[in-house]
Amino acid sequence: MSAATDNANVPAHVAIIMDGNGRWAQQRGLPRTVGHKVGVESVQAVVRAAQDLGVRILTLYAFSTENWRRPPLEVQALMGLLKSFLESELTAMVSNNVSLRSIGRKEQLPGPVREVLERVIAETAGNTGIILNLALSYGGRTEIVDAALAVAGRCRAGELAPEAITETFFADHLYTRGLADPDLLIRTGGERRLSNFLLWQASYAELYFIDTLWPDFRAEDLATAVRYYQGRQRRFGKTGEQVR
Ligand code: IPE
Ligand code: IPE
Ligand code: MG
Repeated sequence: MSAATDNANVPAHVAIIMDGNGRWAQQRGLPRTVGHKVGVESVQAVVRAAQDLGVRILTLYAFSTENWRRPPLEVQALMGLLKSFLESELTAMVSNNVSLRSIGRKEQLPGPVREVLERVIAETAGNTGIILNLALSYGGRTEIVDAALAVAGRCRAGELAPEAITETFFADHLYTRGLADPDLLIRTGGERRLSNFLLWQASYAELYFIDTLWPDFRAEDLATAVRYYQGRQRRFGKTGEQVR
């Protein structure tokens, strides 16, 4: 693997499962919420680093449908951090040409969080730089079921025949419609599982798992992951000779 990043082969879409905040705090004898707070600093650093590398889309798994099962006080702290992150980053996102999007069941978020999220999405909608896509109250299975419901509804309304359903048509009903699939999927924190993240979209993503806990993950760690990606041969079912 070469030490330098190949600027011509940067993954267009990087998706990250930001895991390990709680353990980072516990290792220091601190409450889990402190880990989430420092994790926000990693988010800020990684968004900038992704922009500098030329990544077009950065999807961050910030809160899963399963995370609602956590103790209410931790959920409250996470929602509070999300709200203050959005409020404090709005100016920077506007001046750095960042376009914010979100995937997930937005309607499940507390009203004030949803309001600021929608405001930042609207105010950055015209930006043409990196797309920062936050997965909030997101679950891959829920997303697929929601798409199936939407497609079934259109069939019932007589808008289309079931035989007309293709992969592309179905994908156009996922939360990620209009976004290319992730090329590189990173998980920090040592676990090697997807935890219900981008189940459909990650079908051909390169997977990169590292033990580094999310609050310790910074620009150089993203660059290392990108170099790992650049060392892979993406065959998409073909032989190595065919894609060389
Ligand atoms: C990731 O860190 C943040 C969220 C899931 C919201 P965790 O809070 O899962 O940290 P660990 O896995 O318990 O260390
Ligand atoms: C996945 O992390 C969800 C996010 C990073 C938002 P979890 O910490 O919730 O995953 P599991 O439950 O350990 O698989
Ligand atoms: Mg975790």
